[in-house]
Amino acid sequence: MSTNAQMKKDNWSEEAYAASASFVYSAKIVGKLLNSLKPEPTDKVLDIGCGDGKFTANFLPAIGSVLGIDASESMIESANKDYASEKASFRVVDCRFLEQETSIVDGSWDKVISNAALHWILRDESTRMSTLRAIYGCLKPGGTYVFEMGGHGNVAEVKTALLYALVQQGITVEQARETSPWFFPSDDWMRSALEKVGFQVENVELEYRPTKLTSDAKGGLEGWVRLMGAQFLEALHEEKRDAAVKQIGDILQTVVTRVEDGSQWLGYVRLRGIAKKI
Ligand SMILES: C[S@@+](CC[C@H](N)C(=O)[O-])C[C@H]1O[C@@H](n2cnc3c(N)ncnc32)[C@H](O)[C@@H]1O
Repeated sequence: MSTNAQMKKDNWSEEAYAASASFVYSAKIVGKLLNSLKPEPTDKVLDIGCGDGKFTANFLPAIGSVLGIDASESMIESANKDYASEKASFRVVDCRFLEQETSIVDGSWDKVISNAALHWILRDESTRMSTLRAIYGCLKPGGTYVFEMGGHGNVAEVKTALLYALVQQGITVEQARETSPWFFPSDDWMRSALEKVGFQVENVELEYRPTKLTSDAKGGLEGWVRLMGAQFLEALHEEKRDAAVKQIGDILQTVVTRVEDGSQWLGYVRLRGIAKKI
């Protein structure tokens, strides 16, 4: 894989994330995932793709300690600023190469959790299985891995509009597909992959969860497209990006907008799972 093989640029920032995607880590949205964590006061937890720590903060009071890891220096800087303590630390790790982190992949963790990050991390086909194997290796025998991520069909409308905008600018369909930073697997794919690395799968499920976009002036659909779709937009010359974002907004206007109140919703499809190391 060429374009996605290296994390070239850090597109994340706490501010942009809060403006356009604060729902991702809201207690209401992550309720089912947190229930499956079943936090205990003695738990040593690894949070994969922890972002700016706001998701981690949801379960931090209920556990013993947490290490959050994320590829974004900017998100880890925010997490350390806001949440680092005796029981919480955060570190920059590109989880595509988690297996190389021998101080983390040491069979010492009671639980591994991940929210809204695995579809980015597993995009790179060449490291997909080694990352899952490393997650298995992190856990103690009897340990639990719980996750939620984009599943098959996630945000299909906006992904299609992003692909269209690129093709309209003369990029081939194949190249446009290659720029996608996401892998949205089915429940069947994930179950089989987890079993292949040794997990006993308790549950893997897909849920269609239409999600209301923020009404923040710097967020909304445009903010979401600029933040989450940054890698698509980077395939275009800089001067063409604003026009592409506008076109995507125009195409999606009637697709995502509810007539009763003008609110805008994306068709999120979540893939949730619980797997045990036995
Ligand atoms: C949508 S955010 C989710 C953050 C957090 N888990 C939450 O629920 O708010 C996705 C996160 O995945 C991280 N990410 C993407 N690719 C990654 C990789 N290869 N290794 C580690 N983290 C990665 C991004 O930096 C970003 O912080």
